[in-house]
Amino acid sequence: LGMLKLADEKGLTNTITTLSSYKNRYYTSMTGVDASKWLQTYWGQLAAGRNDISVAAYRHANWAQESVILTIQGSSEPQKIVVLGGHLDSIAGGGGNSVAPGADDNASGIAALTEAIRVIVASGYKPSKTIKFMGYAAEEVGLRGSQEIAATFKREGKEVVGVIQLDMTNYNGSAEDIFLITDNTNASQNAFLASLVKTYTDYRLGETKCGYACSDHASWTKNGYPASFPFEAKFSEDNPNIHSAKDTISQSGGHSRHALKFAKLAIAYLVEIAK
Ligand code: BES
Ligand code: ZN
Repeated sequence: LGMLKLADEKGLTNTITTLSSYKNRYYTSMTGVDASKWLQTYWGQLAAGRNDISVAAYRHANWAQESVILTIQGSSEPQKIVVLGGHLDSIAGGGGNSVAPGADDNASGIAALTEAIRVIVASGYKPSKTIKFMGYAAEEVGLRGSQEIAATFKREGKEVVGVIQLDMTNYNGSAEDIFLITDNTNASQNAFLASLVKTYTDYRLGETKCGYACSDHASWTKNGYPASFPFEAKFSEDNPNIHSAKDTISQSGGHSRHALKFAKLAIAYLVEIAK
């Protein structure tokens, strides 16, 4: 899979640094709105040369921060949809007035998605199925953005064949590289992801549980779609600085080596599932 070699850390670090420079990305704050707008613009720039790729804001009725959806129209089976997502909001203690850089939670997931988009465009890759990249608003206040989107997809009868969630990818807290979350996820898609890791990488795999509906994958699972959640560490060894002013890229060594593994897994996944 030659596309994997095109992924690199530079874009990842740029996205993490840019998103974590907003005071916070809280779902009702001005900076939270601005960060969503920045992502819309940035994804739009990456897709500029392709008429089969579009970027749209997904407006939510009850708060200001928009979700962001980049769609690559499938060439032969466009009704079949693959979703790669992560939340774009951040939170710390006091909500809209707090400093919440959210570098790991979850600028790092958005960065991995963004790098996958960059590699798709750089390689000229055209999927048979439709691929949707989603930056969700309002995850940190109860998975609200993703729940609204997944419920709308279900109500409209959309055929989503697979979902992966990237939420926290850049803190290397455990001996293994990538952990598959086993609760609120789809076992057979998890096995598919494990086979991709074994076939295309030398990363060490682990399994772990959140124990509750901890991120946006749970919104898709709840609405009947097969979702997986590859995570940065064992649940008990994950980044201790999330949801605080200390969630900066320096807590991950100032680089994006760990997040790069997740960008590569996302690329392998989309190429194999959307072909
Ligand atoms: N990224 C976290 C989820 C997470 C934290 C997964 C630690 C694995 C280890 C997410 O942004 C989050 O904070 N979720 C909330 C729950 C949500 C329903 C508001 C949480 O875990 O408290
Ligand atoms: Zn969080």
